[in-house]
Amino acid sequence: MLVRKRFAFHYLCMIVLIFWSTYYLCWSTSSLKLNSVPLKRPPPRLYIAANLYNNEAIVDHWASQVYKLAQWAGPDRAYISIYENGSTDKTKSMLTDFEQQLSLANISHTIVLDDTPKNYSERRIPLLAKRRNQALLPLYKQQQQRGVTYDRILFLNDIWFVWTDAVALLESRTTNDEGYDAVCSMDFYGQYYDEFATREIDGGWLGSGNYPYFQDMKSRNLLRRQELVPVYSCWGGMIAYNTAPFMLMNTTTNDPLLSFRSLWPDDPQPPLEASECCLIHSDLISLNYSRIFINPKIKVAYDHFHYWYAHYILPIRHLWLSWTNTPVAISEEEQVLWNKKLATVGPLDRGDATCLWRPGRYD
Ligand SMILES: *[C@@H]1O[C@H](CO)[C@@H](O)[C@H](O)[C@H]1NC(C)=O
Ligand SMILES: *[C@@H]1O[C@H](CO)[C@@H](O)[C@H](O)[C@H]1NC(C)=O
Ligand SMILES: *[C@@H]1O[C@H](CO)[C@@H](O)[C@H](O)[C@H]1NC(C)=O
Ligand SMILES: *[C@@H]1O[C@H](CO)[C@@H](O)[C@H](O)[C@H]1NC(C)=O
Ligand SMILES: *[C@@H]1O[C@H](CO)[C@@H](O)[C@H](O)[C@H]1NC(C)=O
Repeated sequence: MLVRKRFAFHYLCMIVLIFWSTYYLCWSTSSLKLNSVPLKRPPPRLYIAANLYNNEAIVDHWASQVYKLAQWAGPDRAYISIYENGSTDKTKSMLTDFEQQLSLANISHTIVLDDTPKNYSERRIPLLAKRRNQALLPLYKQQQQRGVTYDRILFLNDIWFVWTDAVALLESRTTNDEGYDAVCSMDFYGQYYDEFATREIDGGWLGSGNYPYFQDMKSRNLLRRQELVPVYSCWGGMIAYNTAPFMLMNTTTNDPLLSFRSLWPDDPQPPLEASECCLIHSDLISLNYSRIFINPKIKVAYDHFHYWYAHYILPIRHLWLSWTNTPVAISEEEQVLWNKKLATVGPLDRGDATCLWRPGRYD
């Protein structure tokens, strides 16, 4: 009896292993194909922007992929802007090496290593907004001093990704090929990570961190077909922008009309918080650049393990989740509490209110 059970277990393991390795092979070859896809048009002139802080665990891999991405765009058509601040690990020396590599390859770049010590009374969101704006400064300089412009801005978090993920994101196409003003990847830490900056097409919070994520039915159908899902806002670790709205300047002050910002920037304890990565989409929409999408095919993570997990394990979980998970952003009881909370905040314009994060869900 015991022997037979053991045999049954043995066979079960074999079958699972065979299925899994077939599945694995199919997936890894499908992602390799990207390299051999012939280009329909020249790659975009590409401005890559990033903020780093204590990232020694990923910088080597990250920089190697950014380098390949710049080579894909063309060394004379790419710009790399990295703003690092206050790292206490090896990030700074690794970035110094990367800078030498970029100089040797004639890739234009600015790598700022900021040594200002941490100000613990500074709020996180205003600081992040400032850092992201600093990463954009060379973009304006290139245009104003050298007349050099770029087609796309690619913002990269401290993510684990491969350069072809970024290429696929930049080359995202809607079914009617209308182009995009912003398109995001999805970042995973077990489940979908960046709910803070994500709003569904109606401006509501994302229905769920787990597949099929969206409360909106149309969005869920697009997700099932792995097509671009239009949203109000997203970030997801990596985002490609149409550069045009970033180059709009206030004619009197000559400042950009579009920049990262926070709500109540000078209030040390604001009533609520909103992501700078959501507010920028409110501003983008008010400038009439509202073609904002999530590309569900592009999955990134913050370390190698979770990248692998998102690519090879999550799709299996999705089979189960598509039956069991019904995304609902907020229950009726929660809505009542939320409305009460909102009433205490005072009047806000719609774009600002849409980006508010629900209390207790973010620290
Ligand atoms: C970089 O530019 C210099 C001067 O224009 C040139 O001599 C060198 O060969 C270039 N290096 C690469 C890798 O293209
Ligand atoms: C550096 O900036 C990051 C945001 O990019 C922030 O989280 C971090 O606290 C800052 N570090 C210091 C030392 O200021
Ligand atoms: C630290 O941040 C607080 C809040 O933004 C500010 O009032 C203060 O002047 C800053 N301190 C320094 C030394 O920059
Ligand atoms: C440009 O800046 C001025 C001065 O700060 C401001 O009054 C005006 O509203 C700005 N214009 C736009 C279009 O933002
Ligand atoms: C955006 O479009 C609306 C409607 O067409 C128009 O009224 C508004 O002035 C536009 N806003 C900007 C900033 O172009």
